[in-house]
Amino acid sequence: MNQDEGIQLIDYEPTAASFLEEALAGLRKPRKTLPCKYFYDERGSELFARICELEEYYPTRTEIAIMQEYAAEMAEAIGPGCAIVEYGIGSALKTRILLERLIEPVACIPVDISREFLIRSAKDLAAIFPKIEFLPVCANFSEPFDLPPTKRKSARAVAYFPGSTIGNLMPEEAAALLKNMAKTCGSGGGLLVGIDLIKEVEKLEAAYNDGLGVTAEFNKNILRRMNRELDADFDLEKFGHLAFYNSGERRIESHLVSRVDQSVRLGGETFAFREGEAIHTENSHKYDVDDFSAFAAEVGFRAERVWTDPGRLFAVVYLQID
Ligand code: AVJ
Repeated sequence: MNQDEGIQLIDYEPTAASFLEEALAGLRKPRKTLPCKYFYDERGSELFARICELEEYYPTRTEIAIMQEYAAEMAEAIGPGCAIVEYGIGSALKTRILLERLIEPVACIPVDISREFLIRSAKDLAAIFPKIEFLPVCANFSEPFDLPPTKRKSARAVAYFPGSTIGNLMPEEAAALLKNMAKTCGSGGGLLVGIDLIKEVEKLEAAYNDGLGVTAEFNKNILRRMNRELDADFDLEKFGHLAFYNSGERRIESHLVSRVDQSVRLGGETFAFREGEAIHTENSHKYDVDDFSAFAAEVGFRAERVWTDPGRLFAVVYLQID
């Protein structure tokens, strides 16, 4: 436990996965991969913030518009006296919109693996919402964890997982996360989740291939990070950004494609690339509301309400834990 200007951090001391170990494991595979969670160092987070402002990248602004339009209905569905468990701190804005509308919320429990980011954002929110008890939890939320006790008893715990971040997980990983959320929040609890919807391929692909090349820079940032933090020697000029919709898997896949035959050094190993060979860096799964509800039902969630934008680009779904 740690005291920080009135905000108490509950620290489960998650063991951070090693960037080097995971990068090596991914690059040793016959089809090379790198985990997308490593996009987000400071520069990567700034690039992602710029992506959210791009004309082509509709998900963020659409989800915010849905929140602005329907947060009161969401609050109604959630009911009074809840504790909100925020899975990963992404956008303070969406959380603010929700917290402003909730009916007498008891507590807000942001969960993230990054201690500094967690404390900073909890402090910022606590200053805006003095009546809500903030209980930041430092944990790896891909594993179940115990919710800290709240001063006032909450009517139910409701997980909030915005941003279509669930789309970055493989379906089996998403199912495991939903199960953990159900375990953490308990029966009678709920889940408010943002999902990006299946739509015309052109629109999906444009969102990941912006004209200004910001997404390409974001994708390549993982190579830059390996050079800086792991002493790798990737030549960023020798890799190109590739993002396309895989309709069979219903996902946008992001890759970094080697422009030439080359070899790269990392952690004492040499990795050979053929011209055209790709490193698969990210999946962004797209969902259909009914399929998502059916999928969530398999792990104990009952879809209660769905809110979408007029263009049906994005959906925010409220599910109850049976
Ligand atoms: C924030 C993870 C949901 O997958 O659409 C944006 C990240 N990648 N452009 C997404 C991202 C490329 C984004 N998520």
